[in-house]
Amino acid sequence: MKGAAEPEIAQSLTYVPKAAEIAREAGARLREYYAQGVETEYKGDVDIVTVADRAVEKLIRTRLGEVFPDHGVYGEEGTRERMQGEFRWYIDPLDGTTNFAHGFPQFCVSMGLEHRAAGVKADEDGTLVAGVIYDPLRDELFTAERGQGAQLNGKAAKVSRTPELAEALLGTGFPSRKRHASPNVHFYQEFTLRSHGVRRAGSAALDLAYVACGRMDAFWEFNLNPWDTAAGILLVEEAGGRVTDFAGGRFQLKSDEILATNGLIHEELIGFFGDMFAGRNLTPIPTPGEFAKARAERAKTGRE
Ligand code: IPD
Ligand code: CA
Ligand code: CA
Repeated sequence: MKGAAEPEIAQSLTYVPKAAEIAREAGARLREYYAQGVETEYKGDVDIVTVADRAVEKLIRTRLGEVFPDHGVYGEEGTRERMQGEFRWYIDPLDGTTNFAHGFPQFCVSMGLEHRAAGVKADEDGTLVAGVIYDPLRDELFTAERGQGAQLNGKAAKVSRTPELAEALLGTGFPSRKRHASPNVHFYQEFTLRSHGVRRAGSAALDLAYVACGRMDAFWEFNLNPWDTAAGILLVEEAGGRVTDFAGGRFQLKSDEILATNGLIHEELIGFFGDMFAGRNLTPIPTPGEFAKARAERAKTGRE
């Protein structure tokens, strides 16, 4: 969606201008596929993939190779190029594939750049230096470069000022693999009862971008991958927020847990994670059986 009204990206940035161009081109391709409708294939359980995921990853890989020929590329659909390079792009060509395949308008392109200085070991993280997330249906471009702040369509993006969980809007997601092994529905329940609500919008990268621009106050999820999180983490940090694991430890790209907040409610959420893992202070709700019994009782007695 290029045109006269397109917001300016500060050309002083090193990686974002070119990456943003690629993300926009990738997003335009996603829009075309979305409009025409695509067949889905199963990668496993309910983990689906479409022709759009593969074609757009190929497009991004090719474009990155043209503009940053020394940079590595690590993509969800299998790209592993120049993995010894000093810089590495983590790309998710289509974050929110399930939404995309069902015609639910919430998905994006996500591209995060890591600098791996000499001496960084293979299993260690380098430093995230740039992030671009593009929502092609809303034409929203979220960008960040280390030390330069975060932007939404070229304007400064900041995390919210919500001071406590009780006033917060949260986001989370659920895995599409090994679903029966995930405890997240318990966390969903507790946080729903303690906040303004929890959204499960279906695109982790956009969830992180929304924390960065204050539309949500926090986001957590289990078992994400570096292509889901690399860009969003930098966005949240550059927008003034905080990203850790559930215990407040340093976030690593291979971490099984991510907690991203506006910073102000971070410690409070870590406290609740601690309580929940220890089985403390849980809020009981009726089981469906208990509820049905009480409902039948009410129908019999006519009492509320
Ligand atoms: C998924 C989305 C979703 C999250 C899943 C991810 P995909 O990515 O980010 O919100 O809950 O864990 O796998 O498969 O659509 O790229
Ligand atoms: Ca993803
Ligand atoms: Ca994906």
